[in-house]
Amino acid sequence: MKRSHPPSLERRRFVAGVAALGGAAVAWRYVVTPAFAQNPPSGCPTPPSGGTPFQPGQDQRPIVLRPSISALTSAQLTELRGAYAALRALPSSDPRTWILQADLHALYCQQCTNDATQIHFKWSFFPWHRAYLYYYERILGALVGNLDGFRLPYWDWEVARSMPSPYRTPAAASNSLWDANRDGGIAGGGGLPSGDGDLARVQQLYGTQDFATFGGNASSAGACENNPHGLIHDDVGEQTPTGLDMGNLGFAARDPIFFAHHGNLDKLWSHWNGLAGTSGVPATAYRNPTDPGFLNATWSFYDETSAIVSMRASDVLDHSDNLRYIYALPVLHIPIYEIIRCELICCGPDPEKSATLRIPQESVDATTLAVRDRLPTSLVLHEVEIPAGATGTFEAFAVRGERRVSLGRFAIVGESHMAMKGAHRMTLLLDATKALPDLLAREAPATLRVIGRRGAKSFPLRAKGAELRIQRSAVEAPRK
Ligand code: C2O
Repeated sequence: MKRSHPPSLERRRFVAGVAALGGAAVAWRYVVTPAFAQNPPSGCPTPPSGGTPFQPGQDQRPIVLRPSISALTSAQLTELRGAYAALRALPSSDPRTWILQADLHALYCQQCTNDATQIHFKWSFFPWHRAYLYYYERILGALVGNLDGFRLPYWDWEVARSMPSPYRTPAAASNSLWDANRDGGIAGGGGLPSGDGDLARVQQLYGTQDFATFGGNASSAGACENNPHGLIHDDVGEQTPTGLDMGNLGFAARDPIFFAHHGNLDKLWSHWNGLAGTSGVPATAYRNPTDPGFLNATWSFYDETSAIVSMRASDVLDHSDNLRYIYALPVLHIPIYEIIRCELICCGPDPEKSATLRIPQESVDATTLAVRDRLPTSLVLHEVEIPAGATGTFEAFAVRGERRVSLGRFAIVGESHMAMKGAHRMTLLLDATKALPDLLAREAPATLRVIGRRGAKSFPLRAKGAELRIQRSAVEAPRK
């Protein structure tokens, strides 16, 4: 099967002569030109399939700490640069090469709208990216002859608020960590907008005890996917109507910072799981889904020998034993909160399409107390409907009369055709502490509104459910 129109990404499918476990393996060959083209994989072929299934326990390498970029020794930094340089230098026919690995990411996202393989906008988001990083890390390690010891560094944006300098300087193709298609401010060392994946946000996420809100469910993205994930993508990617590189899921993994960004998201998930069993939190808190639909999702990748391999979500949950890396776990203070279930009413005759939060009568006392004592309060909007084509950066507000109080930003990373078919769902975890008096006002309470930023189109807020989470206390964790 040949596709000649540009970009010339050509694939050949053949049934491998050697039977792989469980049936015929499908092998792929890509040809991509030119290397820097901003084009998604042509025709959106389905991702590779089959391959040797990963077996827990097969990886017997030492368990090694994944480092923060800022903690790399100069030898480690040299190794990292060498690994990316070697990756970029692989011939374009090699399935391990930089651009084809980036295309592999695109094939699994709404870039190639295919609900069966989509790994964003649902609970597959965390496990898929963990598996992808695992094989990418192995490829990089093998290229520098250090499969045992090389681990991907992460960009800990919650504390390092500008892009780590090795990825920015020198700003030239001679730097294998550099990428041309970035936002000018960020590329020049500018800081991330406040609120985007900052410490307060990360704390708020650590205080979120259910996986659905944190990491999504079968049909909706969780809160991590929009902030920090989406916002930092869009902050870093070059601003064009559809976004370049980090600003567009079709190309995002062409920027080496993608792997440092996702490394930090992976760390966030790992730490979140690490809070399970903390005294004072419910036994179900900080646990991954146990639904077979989550656990059995299986995806194929290329390993460091270019062989097709497959991995299940359940294989990645224990990253220390199975994938041979760990993160240093800090001591955290996690909030203990009370949940007030509310209703989000959308959208009356209001030309601005604003929504109203309805608080049940029996919870009025609790919320009044929260206002009086200024208790930190989150507003969770479960499974907000994201209309087709809505991508970019947004901000939610509580609007009352002339006053607009921000509830926080979130982002839906663009894709090249703006062709997301049908609506998606995404849970928003917002900070309602400052807006609470307006939201609870007896007379003409505030309405909720989403405003698009940088040209993104606003949309009405429709959610499956709404909750206020009022912080009552905090516990030190992990303490079991
Ligand atoms: Cu699969 Cu950050 O995107």
